[in-house]
Amino acid sequence: MSGKDVLSFVDDRLEELHEASLYNEIRVLEGAQGAWVVIDGEEKLNLCSNNYLGLAADEDLKDAAKEAIDEFGVGPGAVRSIAGTMSIHTELERTLAEFKQCEASVVVQCGFNANLTVIPLLVGKGDLIYSDELNHASIIDGCRLSRAKIRVYPHLDTDALEKMLQEDADHEGRKLVVVDGVFSMDGDMADLRAIADLCETYDCISMVDDAHGEGVLGSHGSGIVDHQDVHGRIDVEMGTLSKALGCVGGFIAGERRLVDFIQQRGRPFLFSSSLTPAEAAANLAAVKKLMASDELVEKLWDNTRYFQESMREVGFDTGKTQTPITPIMLGEAGVASEFSRRLFDRNIFAQSIGFPTVPRGEARIRVMLSAVHSREDLDFAVESFREIGEEMGVLD
Ligand SMILES: Cc1ncc(COP(=O)(O)O)c(C=O)c1O
Repeated sequence: MSGKDVLSFVDDRLEELHEASLYNEIRVLEGAQGAWVVIDGEEKLNLCSNNYLGLAADEDLKDAAKEAIDEFGVGPGAVRSIAGTMSIHTELERTLAEFKQCEASVVVQCGFNANLTVIPLLVGKGDLIYSDELNHASIIDGCRLSRAKIRVYPHLDTDALEKMLQEDADHEGRKLVVVDGVFSMDGDMADLRAIADLCETYDCISMVDDAHGEGVLGSHGSGIVDHQDVHGRIDVEMGTLSKALGCVGGFIAGERRLVDFIQQRGRPFLFSSSLTPAEAAANLAAVKKLMASDELVEKLWDNTRYFQESMREVGFDTGKTQTPITPIMLGEAGVASEFSRRLFDRNIFAQSIGFPTVPRGEARIRVMLSAVHSREDLDFAVESFREIGEEMGVLD
């Protein structure tokens, strides 16, 4: 160890975060996810998890996980490509492919890794990537890892994207257009028809990250490709099992040759052990549940419409959302974090989000709605937001 404090810069960085009101206090849940959670021994209304359908503590999923432990044990014992592929993994992959109406799918540890797995296999040095400026961090990191040249276009601006594609028309290498289906901070959606049209015209590979579309959009929550009716026109669909599906894991769905290639060359698939049997079984139960009924998805959308309309009536700006992700736009990071603190004092858990996750001056409370919220829960939330909004003078 050096005599000098070589990690002193960490203190400086942390201090800067505190000074800018950007230090994130990580709350600890003392029990399962649900409409209400226990934090510091108190019940709090949960408005910030990705548990869209309430499956994170669903009894059927829990039973499936317990049975899988009895049958397969607790760990996969190896990476998938050596001895860690169990029949519960392959059954999950077949079922996910059916759910997404694709030829095949492959599951990895998490959604983040799914992007790190597939993007560097699609493009490499000398190739081009076109990436929406608000794409998720895991897409950005997957793009960087590929060593392709990255061209970032303004959020949702397919005209600007087309201009770039025209400029690069003579490019010899491969080209990839990659977008979030639903943007996780604003809740707005990519126009996949326009993207598919452009990719077909300019010979690009098209890819969507459907992390916030699965369980939310499309028939039975099968995702944005179904919702926008572009089946067969998007080359690569990436998804996560950690949000609406309630457990953890990531996957890539598409043509069988793509899945074969990932299983041969995808680095997180080859060099990191995969889902535990319990996770695979819980995910399988979640997908089967969605395929059998769209009741939970309907309930999620009922809650979404009710909450968003009520908040707008009260005078809050809910941004550009088209989905259950509901940003309550508050401007400066200090205002948003103080608002969140006051909500917490009133037993509402809704975290503020500031720079660098969202641009400066666009800090917000991001409310995540769920099928498990009751009308009383939502009324309580709206009333509390209204009271604090008036106290802080942030209402229109
Ligand atoms: C758009 C998007 N992609 C990928 C991920 C990563 O998913 P996971 O939590 O399964 O790693 C997230 C999670 O925040 C996300 O919002």
